[in-house]
Amino acid sequence: MSVHKTSALLLFAAACIPSVVALAASTYQHALANYANVFVDPNYVIGKNYSNTTFDAQQTILRWANDSAQGGPWSVTTKQYLAPSGDKHDYTSFAVYSWADCSHVGNTTQLTPEQIWKTCPYVTIDGKLNPEADAIPNADDFDSLANAVLYNGLAWGITGSSTYATLVATYIKAWFLDADTFMNPNLNYAQMQRGPGQNGTHTGVLDLKAMAKIASGILVLRDGKAQEWTSDIDKGFVGWINNYIGWLHTSPLALKEKSSTNNHGSYYFTQLAALQVMVGDIAGAKGTINEYLGGTLILGLGINGFTVLMTASQPLESSRTRPFHYRAYNLAAMITTARIADYISLSPSVWTKTTSAGSTITSALSFSMSHLGDATSDTEKQELYPLVASVAAGVGDANNTYSKFLSHNDGSRYITDPTFFWSQPLSDLGYVAASNQTRSVTTSAAHGVSTGTSGGKKGGGNGSTKEGTNGSEHSASVRVGMSSVVGVVVTAALLL
Ligand SMILES: *[C@@H]1O[C@H](CO)[C@@H](O)[C@H](O)[C@H]1NC(C)=O
Ligand SMILES: *[C@@H]1O[C@H](CO)[C@@H](O)[C@H](O)[C@H]1NC(C)=O
Ligand SMILES: *[C@@H]1O[C@H](CO)[C@@H](O)[C@H](O)[C@H]1NC(C)=O
Ligand SMILES: *[C@@H]1O[C@H](CO)[C@@H](O)[C@H](O)[C@H]1NC(C)=O
Ligand SMILES: *[C@@H]1O[C@H](CO)[C@@H](O)[C@H](O)[C@H]1NC(C)=O
Ligand SMILES: *[C@@H]1O[C@H](CO)[C@@H](O)[C@H](O)[C@H]1NC(C)=O
Ligand SMILES: *[C@@H]1O[C@H](CO)[C@@H](O)[C@H](O)[C@H]1NC(C)=O
Ligand SMILES: *[C@@H]1O[C@H](CO)[C@@H](O)[C@H](O)[C@H]1NC(C)=O
Ligand SMILES: *[C@@H]1O[C@H](CO)[C@@H](O)[C@H](O)[C@H]1NC(C)=O
Repeated sequence: MSVHKTSALLLFAAACIPSVVALAASTYQHALANYANVFVDPNYVIGKNYSNTTFDAQQTILRWANDSAQGGPWSVTTKQYLAPSGDKHDYTSFAVYSWADCSHVGNTTQLTPEQIWKTCPYVTIDGKLNPEADAIPNADDFDSLANAVLYNGLAWGITGSSTYATLVATYIKAWFLDADTFMNPNLNYAQMQRGPGQNGTHTGVLDLKAMAKIASGILVLRDGKAQEWTSDIDKGFVGWINNYIGWLHTSPLALKEKSSTNNHGSYYFTQLAALQVMVGDIAGAKGTINEYLGGTLILGLGINGFTVLMTASQPLESSRTRPFHYRAYNLAAMITTARIADYISLSPSVWTKTTSAGSTITSALSFSMSHLGDATSDTEKQELYPLVASVAAGVGDANNTYSKFLSHNDGSRYITDPTFFWSQPLSDLGYVAASNQTRSVTTSAAHGVSTGTSGGKKGGGNGSTKEGTNGSEHSASVRVGMSSVVGVVVTAALLL
């Protein structure tokens, strides 16, 4: 069974943000999360017709734009360990659940680490992370890049501030285009298992799953005509993507990943569709999504050698070491695909696509919502909330079922999450005192300085949240936040 990949917990030292005003206290407490995947409709962002209730979510996006940019630009060439090719431009990572098995190599003395890495076959132990994988930062760096492109692209769309667009352009050039630092357009050495004959494995294709986040940021800049996104960069990036799409269509590793029947298959198709959208191949993207709907989603979910039809419990994810996480993880791919499909007007809608076993994305989500108790931590629970918000926006929220679930479990935090911004319409359930708001973020200077005002909240459905519940408390919190905020970036543990 295939598995893999975690992202590290990143802690960043105090980020001083003296000039930022009017950030709600909750914004500071809402640390950057590395969501499994996201696609944001660029037309929504560029249209600037945002609900007044999304003000705090917009503020969080500006904050995360800044936080996610710490450490950039990134490049695959930043690593000590080279792929067997010896080419620093080859993306390289180790399979995270892969462990040396030296029991049959016949050594008579203890082996050195180097001997172990080259001599002992490696075997997969699902859910058991091998810290050796940390030796190569390419995978975590791509995740950082994707978040930075997503949030800075959105922040440019919201504020028009050149700072954000410049960062996106710089980061894309560094990872994909610049002569010294570009990545070769293939994943021949992704999620390598150490041992004899080291080579990439098909599961490594998952390492670039966050292309949908990159697409979101890039499309906002391109369609919004950001001058920092030059035609040279655009052409160069499109050329790179077309080469990489060729690899995804032909490499034996990529094709094996494509035929995976669990989340790996789901992410292959999401990634490919996002790439096709970025190069303007809408017909190709539609074909990719239709192939997914007709294959992996409907028939492919096999377990223990038996082929079963997809049911709401997602049996191939439920059988994993952390079923709640894996169900949410696969859902994130399906939901991202549904959002891309909406953007390119695929008909009929992915949201209502029903598998032969009678399941839909919404029934799979309902199953996960009713099994919140399976989550092993609050962080794991929070993997589900953005998905609930996205589905609410995708299929509607009759009787506020989804918004009430979010409020009940996450308090008013959910309206400060970036997801709330791009998952409209979704009710704020009265958390926002709309009558007292000028609820739109404006920018007066570089660095995303906000001159918007975040007014008082009225008590919502859950009084136990950390959010200020009256105007004066809110103002006090802002002062506290401005003098003491520490930019803590926590990436959710994304094990797949
Ligand atoms: C983040 O914001 C601070 C304060 O405005 C600014 O000094 C810093 O340059 C920003 N970082 C990035 C990467 O934009
Ligand atoms: C703005 O969005 C609202 C719904 O939030 C919609 O009713 C209205 O027609 C939109 N206006 C424009 C100009 O698109
Ligand atoms: C061979 O090396 C491995 C790894 O160092 C060690 O665990 C194992 O005990 C060694 N076997 C023998 C028979 O020395
Ligand atoms: C690694 O894979 C490539 C194809 O992707 C193949 O040409 C090469 O022979 C493989 N190397 C080993 C050592 O298996
Ligand atoms: C919403 O509530 C109405 C009235 O109680 C009920 O008939 C309907 O089934 C509910 N819809 C959903 C989607 O829960
Ligand atoms: C309020 O939210 C907190 C988490 O933010 C949760 O622990 C608590 O159960 C919620 N209370 C109610 C009444 O929903
Ligand atoms: C949103 O804000 C505008 C401008 O302040 C205001 O005119 C409008 O009434 C608000 N809408 C809602 C639904 O609160
Ligand atoms: C709106 O909020 C501001 C502070 O954020 C406050 O000074 C003002 O009195 C409030 N107005 C109303 C009508 O509540
Ligand atoms: C409002 O905020 C002030 C200042 O933090 C606090 O003293 C007061 O108790 C709060 N009132 C309510 C009703 O929460």
